[in-house]
Formats: sequence, C-alpha cells, structure tokens
Amino acid sequence: MSADPPIRIFLSPPDVGPDERELLLDAFDSNWIAPLGPHVDAFEAEVAAAVGVRHAVALSSGTAALHLALLMAGVGPGDRVLCSTLTFVASANPIVYLGAEPVFVDATRHDWNIDVGLVEGELASAAERGERYAAAIAVDLYGRCCDYQRLEPLCRTYGIPLIEDAAEALGSTHLGRSAGSFGDMGILSFNGNKILTTSGGGMLVTDDAALAERARHLATQAREPAPHYEHVDVGFNYRMSNLLAAVGRGQLRHLEEKVARRRSIADRYRDRFAAVPGIEVAPGSPDPSSNAWLTCLVVDPDVAGVDREAVRTYLRARGIEARPVWKPMHLQPLFRAARTLGGGVAAELFARGLCLPSGSSLTDAEQEEVCSEVSAAVRA
Ligand SMILES: Cc1ncc(COP(=O)(O)O)c(C=O)c1O
Repeated sequence: MSADPPIRIFLSPPDVGPDERELLLDAFDSNWIAPLGPHVDAFEAEVAAAVGVRHAVALSSGTAALHLALLMAGVGPGDRVLCSTLTFVASANPIVYLGAEPVFVDATRHDWNIDVGLVEGELASAAERGERYAAAIAVDLYGRCCDYQRLEPLCRTYGIPLIEDAAEALGSTHLGRSAGSFGDMGILSFNGNKILTTSGGGMLVTDDAALAERARHLATQAREPAPHYEHVDVGFNYRMSNLLAAVGRGQLRHLEEKVARRRSIADRYRDRFAAVPGIEVAPGSPDPSSNAWLTCLVVDPDVAGVDREAVRTYLRARGIEARPVWKPMHLQPLFRAARTLGGGVAAELFARGLCLPSGSSLTDAEQEEVCSEVSAAVRA
C-alpha cells in the first residue's frame, strides 16, 4: 500500500498578510516582547468592540479561557456541568481540571448544537431531586450559534452560569448580537485553524467588569498589588504575549472579508452538491448568521454507495485534507463513565459527517477540485 501524498489543500490553514507582518515587526522593534504590552491592550479593546461586549481578556488559548470561566463561575470538585457532546475535547477538559463532572448533552439534527429541550428536561428533574448544576457550556459548533433565545432565559431561571464556547464562531451573529456575547462569559480561540489566528491564543469576553478583572488577575499568577511577590490565590500563567496580540490585530482588520469568503465557500459547496445523491451539506448551511467556519457534508452510505470514511480517504489520497465531524465526548474513552442526555444524533453526525476544506485562502480552483473529487468518490 502506498503512503498518501503530502496535503496540498488544507482544511483551514492560517491566512495572514502584510498587516500582520507589519504589526508583528512593530511589536518586535518596540521591544515589548515579554509578555504583555500595548498590542495586548489594543487587541482586547478591538475584540471587545467587535463582539459588542465591555471587556475582553487576552489569554494563551481558548482552553485557558474556558478554565478561568468555569473557575470564576464557581465550579469545583464534585460539581456537575452541562456540556455539548458534539464538540472538540477542549470544551470539556477544563471541567475535569476543576475536579467537576461533565454531563453531556446531545445535538439537534437541525443545527448540530446543544439540544435545549434536553437541557430543559434535565434542569427541571434535577431541581425536583434537589440537585443543582454548577454551570452550562454551550458550543457554537462550526460557527453556528446555539439557540440562545431559549438557553439564556432557561439558565437564568435555574440560576446556572452559562458559558458560550464561541471558539469557532468569531464573526457570527445571532438575534442581532455577536457570537461570544451570550451567557455570562464567552470564550474565543485564535489557534492556527480558526477564522482568525494568533498562532495560538484565546480570549475571555464578558460584560462584567469584576469577572474580567478577576480573569486578568488569575491569568498573571494571581499576583497581588505589592512591590514584592505576594499571592493569595492559586494563579495561572495564561496571558497572551504582545507579539501574538500584534498578529491578532492584523487578522482582526480582515474579519469581515474572511467571514464573507468562508460563507461564499459554503454557498458553492451547497450548490455543487445539490445534485449529488447521498451527499448533503449540513442543514441550513450556510446559516445566514454563521461565519461558516467549516462546511460539513453528511454522507448517507445507503444512497451514496460509500461511507464518510471512504470519501475522506479518497480525498486524502489526492492530497486533500478533510476531517470527520468531531467525535462526540460521550463516545470518547476519556469520558466513558460520564452521564449523557441522549447522544444518538451526535453519534450519527460523527458517523456520517465530514468537514471539507473551508479556509479563507482556499482558491476557487482548489474548491472546484475538492468538489469534483467528492463527486468522483461517490461514483467510484
Ligand atoms: C469548540 C472549541 N472549544 C475550545 C477550543 C480550544 O481552543 P484553543 O485551541 O485555543 O485552546 C477549540 C479549538 O481548539 C474548539 O474548537
């Protein structure tokens, strides 16, 4: 068996330009290298404005942002936290960092996000049992916002802090608000495959000044304001560096273009696959409010004659990177002991779902190649 060729067409590679280079060199030349500095302050202010929240705290990753958000929500050992099952493991790991227990919630078929009906039922029966959840994490999957019209009031009714995992959703809007602005706190990721990248980084966004201040404190080793090193709390080394914030500022200047490009890629996939039997783009894709971070297909093996894995390996053998939809948390060996509400929808989406190259630097010619190879995989 011959090895696959190198990847030529990536799923979601970084898309950087001269603005990022210029700002990075500015940070470098100013010697604001270690680690905070004016670009961090400016990046926070600019992201807060873009998301429409009062405060943003630049951190080393989206995972760090979630860890701090859960900690500040009061989550601790033995607590239970609701979390979407159809997501990347980084949504759930911070629950475990705090000694708490995730309870996973299935996705809906129509938006692939957390099933609010299941959340509602569980919160009602937990209240009857006299139990309480410590927090809920709602993940805006592949850029599409959750049903916050129902989720926000529901969490408020039961007094549960709601954390929006908008790692994949910067640039999306929903109900006239931007992704990241829902719930008590939101988190963003700027890792290499996201709509904007700082190579690695994240942000915690909130309207609550006290939470933002506390996050800054915890993220800088919880140093007390004293001339010597004084510590009351356990802290973390979670701040973003000034160099990376400079790159992020250059990226943020182009957010609208990047969203527009990803949306046009999603439109083209939808058009190209309309007549391919057994291949469907994710329902409602692109959702008019989504940044269309990644476009996903659903492969029905009974109609297509091939399954998702056959399509993926066919593409990979031609130098095209495609990835299965996230393997749900409740199917991960790591979480085999966790409780799950439903789970069948997420399991089916994993079995049939495939993410296609969707980066904002993808050329039309490259996308056409992906489309013809997917069609060829189905005919093969
Ligand atoms: C849904 C989701 N949550 C959290 C994260 C974690 O972000 P980071 O890689 O910046 O830690 C990611 C991406 O990696 C993600 O896709």
